[in-house]
Amino acid sequence: MKAVVRTNFDDSVSAYDAYERRTGRFTALARLLAAEMSVRADGHFTSVLDAGAGTGVSTRVFDERSRRTVALDISREMLRELESAPRVVADFDRLPFTADAFDGVAFTASLFLAPDPAVAVREAARVLRSGGVVGAVAPLGWVDADGTDVFAALDRESRSPAGADEVEAALEDAFAVTAGTWRFATTAADVRRFHTIPAMAARLYPTLDAEERVAKARDLLDGLEGTVEQRWRWIVGVAE
Ligand SMILES: C[S@@+](CC[C@H](N)C(=O)[O-])C[C@H]1O[C@@H](n2cnc3c(N)ncnc32)[C@H](O)[C@@H]1O
Repeated sequence: MKAVVRTNFDDSVSAYDAYERRTGRFTALARLLAAEMSVRADGHFTSVLDAGAGTGVSTRVFDERSRRTVALDISREMLRELESAPRVVADFDRLPFTADAFDGVAFTASLFLAPDPAVAVREAARVLRSGGVVGAVAPLGWVDADGTDVFAALDRESRSPAGADEVEAALEDAFAVTAGTWRFATTAADVRRFHTIPAMAARLYPTLDAEERVAKARDLLDGLEGTVEQRWRWIVGVAE
């Protein structure tokens, strides 16, 4: 499963960056998450681990608030895009850091990609100092103007390795958490753009190769029209 996730993101670098340049969605998520974490960290972090940093979109956001942000990702190709911060190619289920090493651990759109989020959450708790803050953002999907799941209406399930509920439950077990939902008004064209990223199209067609799954997603979404709301769950926890 993890090897598949890694390969999917290794194949996604240019499409991911193109989507981000166009929409700024991951920057927006990281900014919102950083704000929620800062409030609970009394204003600043000295050191933050960006767990699942990808091409560094979230790293740059957390770097604005901390003296040192370390970018960690399982995909060497994604991480290669980032030049401005310390980078570690590793699995967030086995963090190569000592206990109490960070004031913050951020999973911006990454923890739901773990087969069992509880493992990474335990690792986050280990590397956080007492009073440190963890944050995660996990997708709740896309709904149309009537509140109907876009993919259910298209007779297709959109599935990540772990659901937002599972991510939240794992964090609740280890931290005192606060959570909420962010809603982004977006368009059918944005849903199509999102699924030009092979790692995202894998939610719809996990067994197809990168090109095929993007092509199938394009066909599936071809007739989608109008405005669509994208929802993300955020969860922030404080270490005891
Ligand atoms: C949707 S991207 C988000 C990247 C970045 N946080 C951002 O906001 O743009 C998710 C990232 O999580 C990484 N990832 C998934 N599973 C991982 C794991 N077990 N350990 C480390 N990184 C992982 C993927 O390789 C991918 O780069």
